[in-house]
Amino acid sequence: MDTKSRYETLKQQVHEHNYRYHVLDAPVVSDLEYDRLLNELKAIEAEHTDWVTPDSPTQRAGARPSERFEKVRHPRPILSLANAFGAEDARAWFERVRKLDDRVERAKLVVEPKIDGLSVVLHYRDGVFVQGATRGDGEVGEDITSNLRTVRAIPLRIPVAGLRSKVDDDRPSTFDLRLPSHLVVRGEAFIPNQDFEELNQKLAEAGEKTYLNPRNTAAGALRQLDPALTASRPITLLVYQIVYSEGGVVPTRQWEILEYLKALGFPVTDVAMRFDDLDSAIAYTETWNEGRDRLPYEADGMVIKIDDLTLAADLGFVGKDPRGAIAFKFPAREVTTSLLGIDVEVGRTGVLTPKAVLEAVEIGGVVVRNATLHNFDYIAEKDIRIGDRVLVKRAGEVIPYIIGPVTDARMGTEQVYTPPTHCPACGQPVEHLEGEVAWYCVNAACPAQLVRNVEHFVSRGAMDIVGMGTKIVEKLIEAGKVEDVADIFTLSREDILEAVTKKDRKTEKEPPGKIADNLLAAIAESSKRPLNRLITALGIHGVGEVSAADLAGHFGNLDALSQASVDELQQIEGIGPNIAAGIVDWFGREANQKVLKKLKKAGVWPTFNVQRSTLNDSLARLTFVVTGTLPTLTREGVKELIESNGGKVTDSVSRKTSYLVLGENPGSKLEKAQSLGVPVIGEEELKKLAGV
Ligand code: IVH
Repeated sequence: MDTKSRYETLKQQVHEHNYRYHVLDAPVVSDLEYDRLLNELKAIEAEHTDWVTPDSPTQRAGARPSERFEKVRHPRPILSLANAFGAEDARAWFERVRKLDDRVERAKLVVEPKIDGLSVVLHYRDGVFVQGATRGDGEVGEDITSNLRTVRAIPLRIPVAGLRSKVDDDRPSTFDLRLPSHLVVRGEAFIPNQDFEELNQKLAEAGEKTYLNPRNTAAGALRQLDPALTASRPITLLVYQIVYSEGGVVPTRQWEILEYLKALGFPVTDVAMRFDDLDSAIAYTETWNEGRDRLPYEADGMVIKIDDLTLAADLGFVGKDPRGAIAFKFPAREVTTSLLGIDVEVGRTGVLTPKAVLEAVEIGGVVVRNATLHNFDYIAEKDIRIGDRVLVKRAGEVIPYIIGPVTDARMGTEQVYTPPTHCPACGQPVEHLEGEVAWYCVNAACPAQLVRNVEHFVSRGAMDIVGMGTKIVEKLIEAGKVEDVADIFTLSREDILEAVTKKDRKTEKEPPGKIADNLLAAIAESSKRPLNRLITALGIHGVGEVSAADLAGHFGNLDALSQASVDELQQIEGIGPNIAAGIVDWFGREANQKVLKKLKKAGVWPTFNVQRSTLNDSLARLTFVVTGTLPTLTREGVKELIESNGGKVTDSVSRKTSYLVLGENPGSKLEKAQSLGVPVIGEEELKKLAGV
């Protein structure tokens, strides 16, 4: 065989062995044989540098590790956990083990976060860290000692000098700290969320590929052969178990294990709690289901453990799951599904937003069919292609979004997406403003924008026209009955009747005539809304409910506001140069002037008496929740202020809450409001809204 043919054969062989090793995880040659082939290949390339092409296996960084991880047999099986999906399951678990052993009845329970990371097993000989392994199959793991050494949270020597006196100040320790000569502890290695975000940001800035989630990043960095790479990743850990000990005494209760490990200098969760009964343990677990975003890491649940480890051990296990503990799982928030297509929506201001059309998938109990893709740059940056498997996240009340494509699942049939050059609603060319990511449809007559405009005009914080749903709006626009928002006030009963579709009827029996009459009544009622609501409804860029109230209070009517200059507007607190410019621009447009004229003619022209402080309805239909201590108003005072202006005060935050009024030392209501997207205001803003 000539050298060239030998070279080609070698290349082919090395490629194949790489594939068997890395992809199939089923090598057919020993490391030694592989190295021989690779060295022969390198030697030929050194002689014939002109033969080397980019597809040679030698050209791939770290073609194949020169060594594999050694195997480590664990001193005791590294167990897993059975899952409970909700309180019912957890109670059923408890009932099962109670029947097996009546000591369970009085058992204390420890609740700990279940961190979504990589389980690691750390060996200490006479207090020195000597070996670290992955869990592997529970019997045998991989020796990743060199990588784990780079994790600063792992003590290289225990106990950390002088630590004994610093911990347990408030809870005097009763441990016998005679350190076992061989101590094996288990913990979870992970990357905290914030560090993960920062890492991805850095990678993005350097033009490198970003990671999908903290778990895979941590696991990947620990299970590759370059400790320098592990060191460059912000991996940390929390420990929770003593797997094995020899030549020393260790606690026999989980709660004390946590304290003991902490006293030795290990990082231990500060979220763990001990309870006397299951109900309290479940209640605590559920608070973390709601508050999981407050944890600095991804937790996929809480672990409920029987505190008495002797009792727990006596209960035995089912397969690899110990009976003495259960994983109370939170609903999953990240799933993969297929990206079927990308729709483009046109917003009120003409911004085009891409929306993912997904193969339906359940995330945390909700069926998700769409997800946001933020903007067109995002699609390109993440290299999201149509047909990709994508990782979708749905957390709290946030709209589901696509984290990124699962590139390993690509088949080669995925299509790169090209953003539209024309508005999908009106067909006009789209425009891109210098320095902005957004693409706009600048056609003022674009029907899609008009639909969004009207939707906003009739929405709850604006003119609040009950019964004017999107379907009716679309029909009215299609039929040419509504060309701008002012046309709403001159609609006839017939116009509405024609637009009422089956979908608008609450029941089959509800006659369209009744829907039309109700809607006409709602329109008539809305024409009396106060000035701040009308200003909000106009949808001026940057003017929300709070600025609208400021403007109403300052100018008293739309005539005065429409003549205000940028300078004058900026005198008002809370109105910056951009909003001021936006307002002047809005009133300067001919189309808008026409709308104003029509509104005036229709009698929709509220004025605001700046001096007025007696009973009024500036807060009509608004619902407030108050939390914390306000600067000047007492609880009664704030209630009176809201109610005397037509508003309502309720105790708990829901989707129906218009505002949360925030004072000092707020309770959990703030979080609830934020998660539901309820606007949060202070006393000052409340007073402005009320017009006092
Ligand atoms: S206890 C007998 N406690 O969850 C001990 N596991 O689904 C069994 N995990 O493989 C494990 N945090 O990697 C336990 N506080 C915690 C945990 C925890 C995370 C992981 C662990 C385990 C998996 C079980």
